[in-house]
Amino acid sequence: MRAHVGEAIFKARWKPAPNVSEGIDGLGPLYNAASCFACHGDSGGDRVALVLRLSDSVYGRQLQDRAVPGIEAEGRLEVAYVTETRVLGDGQTVELRKPHPAIAEPAYGPLSADARVSLRRPPPLAGVGLIATIADSDIRAGADPDDRDGDGISGRAGEVADPATGQTVLARFGWKASVATLAQQTSEALSVDMGLSSAALPRPAGDCTAAQSKCLSAPHGDTPGSGGAEVSEEEIALLVAYLVSLPPPVSLADAGADEERQRGRALFGGLGCTACHRPGFQAGASSDHEPVRPEVRLHSDLLLHDMGEELADDRPEGSASGREWRTQPLWGLSERIKEIDGGAITGLLHDGRARTIEEAILWHGGEAERASGGYARLASGDRAALLAYLSGL
Ligand code: HEC
Ligand code: HEC
Repeated sequence: MRAHVGEAIFKARWKPAPNVSEGIDGLGPLYNAASCFACHGDSGGDRVALVLRLSDSVYGRQLQDRAVPGIEAEGRLEVAYVTETRVLGDGQTVELRKPHPAIAEPAYGPLSADARVSLRRPPPLAGVGLIATIADSDIRAGADPDDRDGDGISGRAGEVADPATGQTVLARFGWKASVATLAQQTSEALSVDMGLSSAALPRPAGDCTAAQSKCLSAPHGDTPGSGGAEVSEEEIALLVAYLVSLPPPVSLADAGADEERQRGRALFGGLGCTACHRPGFQAGASSDHEPVRPEVRLHSDLLLHDMGEELADDRPEGSASGREWRTQPLWGLSERIKEIDGGAITGLLHDGRARTIEEAILWHGGEAERASGGYARLASGDRAALLAYLSGL
């Protein structure tokens, strides 16, 4: 029941304040989308495929390409691609493309000289509730920051200060593992993506900075009924209830796999992919899925890894450096492939640059250099087997 109400809030299109439909006003002044669904839903080609995270004194933490009437949007995100060719061990070539984001029609002039930018795609949400139940100690147990086992792969737990207590806690959500809980991620999204305030992030003007005075003084939708914020604690709890209710993706590759996929699965282990893409965790005790605690077969250790220069965004976030990314879970890869084909996302990896699973593997550098090099040296039949296994996840 709570999940159903949460789903309605997830899909609701928020309106600028003041609005007669009280309860869903307060959008903006600056925003990227009017609903969570616009970025995380199955709205096909209409979906917001990419956002530009920023560290800039004028534009703030993100480029908002929309604004309420009377306020100027910050500019438009434009992405140009530069292509390069990789030659595999057997001479076959693969074209890779690297995105170069730029801001068209910037409302406040160019970014400051020391600004940082990072292109991000909205990650899938199926199964995030199960990920939330995994015990901190289980995730930390996989970390090997000083690479004591000498496999070339370290892995650090993401950490962040708990806004309520100030204590350092494990962070497992986001491309850079910089967010601890689903409630925190929800408040962040409401503020930065939609311009909506909550108890955790109470600024009604969201990501407007001191340099954006018109934006700061725009009308807002804080109401006493929402505890003085545009979105109440109860509404956030309902959104989290909806996220928790989303079932994990169903894997085709593990159950009843054919001979080729079984070979692909063995190669996935043999190449060292599972050193980061850890097959699974045990769901935590707080899971709703009692009495049997399911295995969370997400194919990720939920840790941060140095992925090399090519994937680096040089924009530290939380405890992650400009070269580190959280191992992206691979469950639901078959769905991602369909989303790429349907235009809902531009591709795999944090910035959507990889149009295929193969391209995603070839971009792996840093701690994953050995694994991707191993892939490039495989015979074509073995490459096909690995890709068949992965595209069934
Ligand atoms: C403008 C697009 C946009 C909107 C609107 C948006 N999100 Fe997101 N969401 C993202 C992006 C991009 C990320 C990845 C953030 C990062 O780590 O850089 C993300 C990450 C997340 C994650 C973390 C998933 C993971 O694997 O760690 C959750 C949960 C989430 N969003 C929930 C929500 C909810 C709930 C709402 C509505 C209140 C919402 N989002 C609105 C774009 C959006
Ligand atoms: C050192 C850790 C590490 C190793 C080893 C590793 N990966 Fe990854 N993988 C990551 C990280 C981190 C990301 C996310 C990087 C990003 O988005 O920039 C990722 C992303 C991916 C993605 C894209 C998923 C998506 O939805 O965007 C695929 C596919 C993938 N890895 C497959 C593999 C395969 C196959 C291997 C073995 C050949 C492998 N990985 C080895 C850490 C690793």
